Amino acid sequence: MDKLLIRGGGPLSGEIRVSGSKNAALPILAATLLSSEPVRVSNLPHLHDITTMIALLRSMGTELLVDEKLCVEINGATTKQTTAPYELVKTMRASILVLGPLLAHFGRARVSFPGGCAIGSRPVDQHLRGLEAMGAQIDVDEGYITATCPNGRLKGAHILFDMVTVGGTENVLMAACLAEGRTVLENAAREPEIIDLANCLIAMGAKISGHGSATITIDGVEKLGGCSYSVMPDRIEAGTYLVAAAATRGNIKLRDIDPNTLDAVLVKLEEAGAKIEHGEDWISLDMEGRRPKAVSFKTVPYPGFPTDMQAQFTAMNAVAEGVAKVSETIFENRLIQTHEMNRMGANISVDGNTALITGTERLKGAPVMASDLRASASLVIAGLVADGETLVDRIYHIDRGYECIEEKFLSLGADIRRVSS
Ligand code: UD1
Repeated sequence: MDKLLIRGGGPLSGEIRVSGSKNAALPILAATLLSSEPVRVSNLPHLHDITTMIALLRSMGTELLVDEKLCVEINGATTKQTTAPYELVKTMRASILVLGPLLAHFGRARVSFPGGCAIGSRPVDQHLRGLEAMGAQIDVDEGYITATCPNGRLKGAHILFDMVTVGGTENVLMAACLAEGRTVLENAAREPEIIDLANCLIAMGAKISGHGSATITIDGVEKLGGCSYSVMPDRIEAGTYLVAAAATRGNIKLRDIDPNTLDAVLVKLEEAGAKIEHGEDWISLDMEGRRPKAVSFKTVPYPGFPTDMQAQFTAMNAVAEGVAKVSETIFENRLIQTHEMNRMGANISVDGNTALITGTERLKGAPVMASDLRASASLVIAGLVADGETLVDRIYHIDRGYECIEEKFLSLGADIRRVSS
């Protein structure tokens, strides 16, 4: 199993390009199942989760053509069977995103029930309720969700989500594109990845309005066609490098990023003392050698502070000046990385879903274990601000979400190396 060996040192400094967004790419790849013609998707990040989604499409017999830049042309109409097997779903919960498209296009779908994961139980009841409201019949048996369309085609419906769910909004939005009549989604997620998915569906011929707001209206069409679509930049990858630069008192310039998708993160970085500048597709951050100041926040759905950036900010707070209070409201078990940080000399106490972080000047290198994707990124940041060596174990988590992580950190001047045990 690979590990990352980091020797903490001076400030990060340099320029990197931000990769395509994993969380936008996954639903967009699933959405190609809705189309009756080939859809070409570009700017896909080369990550395990993307490979898993491609493997899942291939396992269903869907024809696809991959080129050396990881542009993928997918012909959803060639799909031969509509089962997403346990072996693939267990490695990636986002496999559930094929449920809505398969059901809407082919009238049936069988998807292994995704289990819980390190950060919480993560149910999919809102996905299923939304599809049922459109006339789907859903049975859960032997660990599989079986969905069928007794009336041949889904019917538009008025759906109010009980909570803001990104995946639930995406699944039902995709299904509604081929349903008969109008669907209105209320309390929909407003994340930029939802907007990117909707824009891709519109390029395929879907009729969607209101995406990016809490009410999305979809007028179903009989068929969707082909298109070429370039996935949006990854705001969480971008945020992770910005925080790494801030924690190390460094400076960084990010290219190919939409600064508008990072509002809450940039506000908090400025509060930490960073000087931030941005243009249409770039952001620069400069700490001018200063130690960051502690920043408190609560994770909430977009446009508030993202749960996917909580762990990285916790690492920065561990070496910041002052005391920060961080509350995690989206997932039940997402402060686990704090225990590993304490082993590196951090001073973090956790009470329920709130962490109280008292900053120390520097951490001490130690062997640590990654428990989930963003937690592993936070341990890398902790390693960068620690004296001595930090060995981050179980980095398969990090390979699910960060393209070329060693190369990007190396180009920023970090001392980081992948070692296999
Ligand atoms: C997506 C992101 C993930 C991010 C999360 C919240 C992808 C591939 N993943 O995950 O990186 O951390 O959004 O921004 O895009 N819930 C229910 N019932 C449901 C659905 C969700 O109770 O049917 C709960 C979840 O357990 C969680 C909360 O709602 O507590 C938010 O989950 P959701 O927004 O659905 O997250 P994902 O789509 O799984």
